[in-house]
Amino acid sequence: MDLLDVMLKRRSVRKYTEDEIPKEKMNKILQAGLLAPTSRNRKPCSFLVVDSKDALEKLSESKESSSKFLKNANKAIVVVANTLISDTWIEDSSIALAFMHLMAAEQDIGSCWVQIHLRKSKSGQSSEDYVREVLGIDDYFRIVGILALGVPFREVKGYEIEDVDKERVHYYCKE
Ligand SMILES: Cc1cc2nc3c(=O)[nH]c(=O)nc-3n(C[C@H](O)[C@H](O)[C@H](O)COP(=O)(O)O)c2cc1C
Repeated sequence: MDLLDVMLKRRSVRKYTEDEIPKEKMNKILQAGLLAPTSRNRKPCSFLVVDSKDALEKLSESKESSSKFLKNANKAIVVVANTLISDTWIEDSSIALAFMHLMAAEQDIGSCWVQIHLRKSKSGQSSEDYVREVLGIDDYFRIVGILALGVPFREVKGYEIEDVDKERVHYYCKE
């Protein structure tokens, strides 16, 4: 599939069936994360695949709102960045999340980014501390986001290139 077609098709999908994500599709999504470029090629990110119902339910409480759908996800990939390896963990984690989100779309798997960094849980605890506690992750690992994944409950309409706001592109010319 042409990359632009995948980009047009890509949407944030938050409602999933109870079906299992096929193993080959999951592998491709993880490969996309592993292939994401990183500053100085330091590769600070690890990918923690969560499929325990209990853990997914706990993770769905990691924010005051907009993380609830994790409860019904088939799997979640928590991107865990080692800050002792790189200072560009935000950028590296974000690129990996975006690569996996795109690959999921290409594989007809629904996915949605759940922002963890800079967010708070219901109790006022930082979402990062909450997730670290649920999954038993050390403090020097930072968590920018989680990718929720599942077989889409229904088709979410993609974008049309004609509808994209091209006014946001500017050209700086010498003359
Ligand atoms: C950095 C980032 C953080 C996001 N965090 C959340 C989130 O916590 N919960 C959520 O439901 N969607 C989240 N999203 C998805 C956006 O809401 C979504 O991309 C946006 O509304 C556009 O919709 P689309 O992805 O279907 O094009 C996030 C997306 C990005 C890029």
